[in-house]
Amino acid sequence: MRAYLITGGRRLEGLVPIHGAKNSVLPILAATILTGGESVIHNCPDLSDVDASIAILRHLGCRVSRAGETVTVDSAGLDRCDIPEKLMREMRSSVIFLGPILARTGQARVSMPGGCELGPRPVDLHLAALRRLGAEISETGGSLRCRTRRGLRGAEIHLALPSVGATENAMLAACGSRGTTVIHNAACEPEILDLQCFLTACGARVRGAGSPVIEVEGGIPLHAAEHRVIADRICAATYLSAAALAGGEVTVEGVARGQLAPVTELFTAAGCRIRQEARRVTLTSGGALRRAGPVRTAPYPGFPTDAQPPVMAALTRAAGSTVFVETIFENRYRHAQELARLGADIRVEGRVAVVTGVPALHGAGLEAADLRGGAALVVAALGAEGESVITGIHHIRRGYDGLPEQLAALGAQIAERPPAAETEEKPWQRSESTNGATQGKKESFSTSTSWSPSC
Ligand code: UD1
Repeated sequence: MRAYLITGGRRLEGLVPIHGAKNSVLPILAATILTGGESVIHNCPDLSDVDASIAILRHLGCRVSRAGETVTVDSAGLDRCDIPEKLMREMRSSVIFLGPILARTGQARVSMPGGCELGPRPVDLHLAALRRLGAEISETGGSLRCRTRRGLRGAEIHLALPSVGATENAMLAACGSRGTTVIHNAACEPEILDLQCFLTACGARVRGAGSPVIEVEGGIPLHAAEHRVIADRICAATYLSAAALAGGEVTVEGVARGQLAPVTELFTAAGCRIRQEARRVTLTSGGALRRAGPVRTAPYPGFPTDAQPPVMAALTRAAGSTVFVETIFENRYRHAQELARLGADIRVEGRVAVVTGVPALHGAGLEAADLRGGAALVVAALGAEGESVITGIHHIRRGYDGLPEQLAALGAQIAERPPAAETEEKPWQRSESTNGATQGKKESFSTSTSWSPSC
């Protein structure tokens, strides 16, 4: 079984260039469907979720190639409107394809998406938004069939919650709808602004992203475009968390000023020194932190739910008690029981967790259960005495490109143990050597499915 082997207790020093944001690149790859041309997306991280998106695009008939951090998608040949269940289950974001497929072909057939087990993750807001645009959607046995009789048409959409995914799906479908769409109570995350940037580069008339009201003038034929994905603020928060706990001085580079504010303010309160430059944040920590918070997760610009697990790990040795309140997902403390194996003192009751700092953590065997919870285990293991073995790292590789290499470059003692015999990975996922270097990427993917051969 693949695992990270980490011997904690080393100070971390240096600069980490932050890779492209997973939560930007996935909707942007889905958006390429709308253009019918050859789009070039730069700064695409090498993540299994990106691989899954590429597999979906290829299944739909798009030509996709990758050269380093650049992915080229030619969607001219798109000739299907279905996504097989095995691809839908790979990641939650597969549902983002629904809007653009529907807008491009007038119909779509998908199953309910998979993703991290963070509690119930319904797609009702996505479907309600698409229905407002005129989609007819039937839900049977976990599969969704959508079609439009006379094409999508612009509408006023009021989201009950500022859902990131539903906002993106509505924006993408609205681009292919006749007339104007206004999305109210839209999510304001920077990744939504990045999607708007790509869409406007394609000729779309979209404005307001980053605010709760987004307006789309639909029905304008889009053309292919070139775009550079923004840096991943959650990865940056993870490296800062590691430095806060292990001690040292780490600079994260690439994330726009302000995007990390809730995290850096918390670490300042916990006793770290933060230095901000235009696209760099440097955290200096002596490793001895004090309680901070309370940490209450909230939609942007609030404290990001995705940063909650690594930040919690960073505060496991902080003097005093820090309270966390998770308001976005029902079940986002699964890392707490694993952190307890290292000696952390965390009491969880419903959506509240109280972390009481302990003098020291001790290495242990740990299992990642989800992406950011897995990152939290890495952070904690770097601050623990002795060796930890973290399994379930396929979750971590959904969102972190080159994590062991980046941490090793900062001075961490971390190695990746390869699988003993057979790979646990899916055929379209990357294979890695023992030091984690990419050996080669999948070039083909079998997409046979017994139903819904084409549109
Ligand atoms: C996105 C991010 C994920 C992040 C989350 C919240 C991507 C690829 N993923 O996920 O990393 O943790 O935002 O910042 O961008 N909800 C409903 N009905 C819906 C949709 C959502 O009830 O139809 C609820 C969810 O259960 C959750 C809340 O709304 O409680 C927020 O979810 P949402 O913003 O949609 O998250 P995702 O887009 O899935």
